[in-house]
Amino acid sequence: MVLWGPVLGALLVAIVGYLCLRGLLRQRRPKEPPLDKGPVPWLGHAIAFRKNMFEFLRHMQAKHGDIFTVQLGGQYFTFVMDPLSFGPILKDAQRKLDFVEYAQKLVLKVFGYRSVQGDYRMIHSASTKHLMGEGLEELNKVMLDTLSLVMLGPTGPSLDTHHWREDGLFHFCYNILFKAGYLSLFGYTKDKEQDLLQAEELFLEFRKYDRLFPRFVYSLLGPREWLEVGRLQRLFHKELSVEHNLEKYGVSNWITYMLQFLREQGVSPAMQDKFNFMMLWASQGNTGPTSFWALLFLLKHPEAMRAVREEATRLLGEVRLEAEQSFEFGALHRMPVLDSVMEETLRLRASPTLLRVVNDDQILQMAGGQEYLLRSGDILALFPYLSVHMDPDIHPEPTAFKYDRFLTASGSRKVDFYKAGKKIRHYTMPWGSGVSICPGRFLALNEMKLFILLMVMNFDLELVDPDTPVPPVDPQRWGFGTTQPSHEPQGRLFLEAS
Ligand code: HEM
Repeated sequence: MVLWGPVLGALLVAIVGYLCLRGLLRQRRPKEPPLDKGPVPWLGHAIAFRKNMFEFLRHMQAKHGDIFTVQLGGQYFTFVMDPLSFGPILKDAQRKLDFVEYAQKLVLKVFGYRSVQGDYRMIHSASTKHLMGEGLEELNKVMLDTLSLVMLGPTGPSLDTHHWREDGLFHFCYNILFKAGYLSLFGYTKDKEQDLLQAEELFLEFRKYDRLFPRFVYSLLGPREWLEVGRLQRLFHKELSVEHNLEKYGVSNWITYMLQFLREQGVSPAMQDKFNFMMLWASQGNTGPTSFWALLFLLKHPEAMRAVREEATRLLGEVRLEAEQSFEFGALHRMPVLDSVMEETLRLRASPTLLRVVNDDQILQMAGGQEYLLRSGDILALFPYLSVHMDPDIHPEPTAFKYDRFLTASGSRKVDFYKAGKKIRHYTMPWGSGVSICPGRFLALNEMKLFILLMVMNFDLELVDPDTPVPPVDPQRWGFGTTQPSHEPQGRLFLEAS
């Protein structure tokens, strides 16, 4: 027994030694991008990266240029920062870059979901069928009714529409979007009051998970937080269980289609529950925060708010918030001003990271003609927030909110953007791109636009302190989809029925 201590110690030293040695031994080969192994063996640059990914990558880009390889926790990541060179990566005609492998490991860790053959393709075909085209039209109606239900309550106004009311703007938007999105996709029962209560409770738990999420992904949780994550996972698996689904009658075709596929593949009910949790996360983690930023930018930019209201009134007349809505959904496609506001909001606040595993040694040809060797087993990464959204050549004054940035002089949607004089295809990438592009993007946009319309057409909104600056982004959330504010805007929101 006494011998176990030294044996385990020696084993640990051997493992740590091996991992460090692997890092130390790696050398830049001819034609490979600049290699920066970082200050700490094995960890490399992980600490600086996790602290503030945006600042870290900005520093690396200044140091190494448009392509570089960095070590992060024993793994090597090659970042490509020149958007004119994204084409071959996103097309990946040779199929040597793998999105699925990395995603499978991640979802197993954070949602407990073990991927099965073909599920990734199935998610995209389910989404094409039910989150686009005719399927989307059906869902738009459900979404509008559910938004009205959430905002009015089952028996009338839940927002106290006759009095000014204060709330944290972030919480307010996230809460409404989550409840409406959750009920629309995962179904409801005949008892609307109970549904709203359950959705409210679920939202509070979702936010707990959401707060822990970035540090969970980076394996930085303390022991108590690990326990809390375990509790939350179990809770979500239970609340979203397929057994519960049987009691509901409004489960969306999107969810139904995907669960049927899993059943047919022999996936256990317990694993289907985990799949549901993953889909809840994918569908609800970004719409609330994006709607918050959009509404805040509108409140801070009265000229933008005026333009949105004018466009909406011209196209829709009065958009009343009421139970059985009659709403001309076609108008949603004829709102270039609101589209530009949403695109500008996503440009300023959506920061996804696109990751692909390099399957074989291969050459990457950059737009400028240089060729780089990518090493098998490394991860190729794009961070378009820095390399595209914040590039002053593509978007002059990139940190400023300009509601008409995506409008032409004649008021239609602007799609022509340039870098170094060349027209650029990927001038914003909030939804990712290529094989991993967000399959819910059309629903997300409609849902957020409906919410903004209902808010600006039905309520007088203002910040308690109009001089409250737009809060900075919480640096922990760079790279995880839509960012969140480092704190609620100091002032709170007043609402009054207009
Ligand atoms: C503002 C809202 C949203 C944003 C900014 C957003 C963004 C993204 C991004 C960047 C990805 C790709 C990540 C990657 O490359 O790995 C993604 C994936 C995904 N999104 Fe969204 N999303 C939003 C809303 C939604 C909604 C409403 C749904 C569904 C109803 C949805 C469903 C999904 C799914 C299922 C995936 C995973 C697809 C796969 O495995 O390839 N998203 N989203």
